[in-house]
Amino acid sequence: MKKILLSTIILLTYSYGYEPSVALNTYLLELRTEAKKINPAFNGFNLEEGRKIFFTKKIVDGGEISCVTCHTKNLASNGLNSKTNKIIEPLSPNANKNRLSDIKEMKKWLKRNFNDVYKREGTAVEKGDVLTFISKN
Ligand code: HEC
Repeated sequence: MKKILLSTIILLTYSYGYEPSVALNTYLLELRTEAKKINPAFNGFNLEEGRKIFFTKKIVDGGEISCVTCHTKNLASNGLNSKTNKIIEPLSPNANKNRLSDIKEMKKWLKRNFNDVYKREGTAVEKGDVLTFISKN
């Protein structure tokens, strides 16, 4: 089991253009296991689905909101929190190496931010898809 885990992490590492953090690889593996439990035919996260999740606009409390509202279309640039008016540092780990480097942080914000936009928690597949999109942009 440990060997499988290790080789999957190594495989994931080499399939990325940049070097993802151990935290990201570990979390993606956790999400993949969860996704496979729900759907045994699940065979990998999808960057394009992640892009859709990131750009889809919803109406919440009478106003339009998407992930782009706070993080902007360009993940390498600063965002602005529409609720607090505070600057958000770039979400892209290519532009900001602190990003996607802490599992607790990823879980906390994905939970909160999915709720902001979709009024529910994201599924394992949705979280994996959107993290894949973010990590490659
Ligand atoms: C209302 C504003 C807002 C919206 C909308 C929003 N975010 Fe965020 N997001 C934040 C803030 C604020 C942080 C944490 C601040 C920081 O780390 O600089 C954050 C952090 C994150 C992180 C953590 C990054 C890390 O370092 O691990 C991820 C991932 C993320 N957001 C994804 C999303 C996704 C996906 C959506 C859409 C479903 C979304 N966000 C929508 C404000 C927002």
